Amino acid sequence: MARIPTHAPAMPADIDVSKPSAARAYDYYLGGSHNWKVDRDFGDRVLQRVPAVKDFALENRAFLRRAVTWLAEQGVDQFLDIGSGIPTVGNVHEIAQKVNPRAHTVYVDYEHIAVAHAQQILDTEDPRRERTDVIRADLRDPVSVLEHPSTRRLLDFDRPVALLMVAVMHFVAPADGVDETMARYRDALAPGSFLVMSHFTREGIPEDMQRQAAALEELYADTPNPGYFRDRAEFTGLFGDLDMVPPGVVWLSDWRPDRPYDGDPARTMVLAAVGRKAGTPLAAGRTPPA
Ligand SMILES: C[S@@+](CC[C@H](N)C(=O)[O-])C[C@H]1O[C@@H](n2cnc3c(N)ncnc32)[C@H](O)[C@@H]1O
Repeated sequence: MARIPTHAPAMPADIDVSKPSAARAYDYYLGGSHNWKVDRDFGDRVLQRVPAVKDFALENRAFLRRAVTWLAEQGVDQFLDIGSGIPTVGNVHEIAQKVNPRAHTVYVDYEHIAVAHAQQILDTEDPRRERTDVIRADLRDPVSVLEHPSTRRLLDFDRPVALLMVAVMHFVAPADGVDETMARYRDALAPGSFLVMSHFTREGIPEDMQRQAAALEELYADTPNPGYFRDRAEFTGLFGDLDMVPPGVVWLSDWRPDRPYDGDPARTMVLAAVGRKAGTPLAAGRTPPA
């Protein structure tokens, strides 16, 4: 896409480029150019032992696109995309604004390069940050995300918000207080809000995929972003008491598909779901703050 810069931005002084990052490796799987040699070497090692990651990355982006389109069509006009990654074709604000040009989006990532690229794109598309902004924050500190001035300026938490945590919670260790963190985010949501998640699992995957799953865990364990598989019950638990939007917890490509999936959806090893906070939205129908 023309608007995406083709070169990595200037490197921040405090960044460690001796290690691959999950954000840049994911960009590599998707065929992006915002990665360095260390990420490509790591990505090649992963692809050799876990060829399924390519399908995961493509199917995950397709799930994100379908979910955001569906939400925007339901009238949701505010999106908080946590663990947003390096901007790639079909970013959340672009998808949402296709349905509703007034939609607001705040991107959150703790990876320098992801944030720097998003800033560059927005400097062209929305230089005054009237509808879209990006912040660098660690999701494990919900206050730094929810109380950030850009979050507060662009999102009205008295109205429904779509909280996107797509392919990110498997980077949060059980010891990092996942349940408390998720509860804090869910509590911040008004009735009628949605939570969108996808997450790696080993439960229910074909026998031969167990080897790829083990290799994936082993390879990422040696990076700044170790990964954690969760079973279906643990993944469902992240939604707390939100109501599951049909079809519920399913494989990525089974969530409201818009085309037939050629293959066994369990081979992506990733579950997806959308939850809705019960209740009637207050001030429904109000347009987002300008
Ligand atoms: C696999 S990418 C997913 C990108 C995008 N959500 C998608 O689904 O296409 C995971 C992203 O989560 C980010 N991430 C991981 N742990 C995080 C944390 N604790 N706080 C903020 N971002 C995090 C990584 O930097 C990376 O950009």
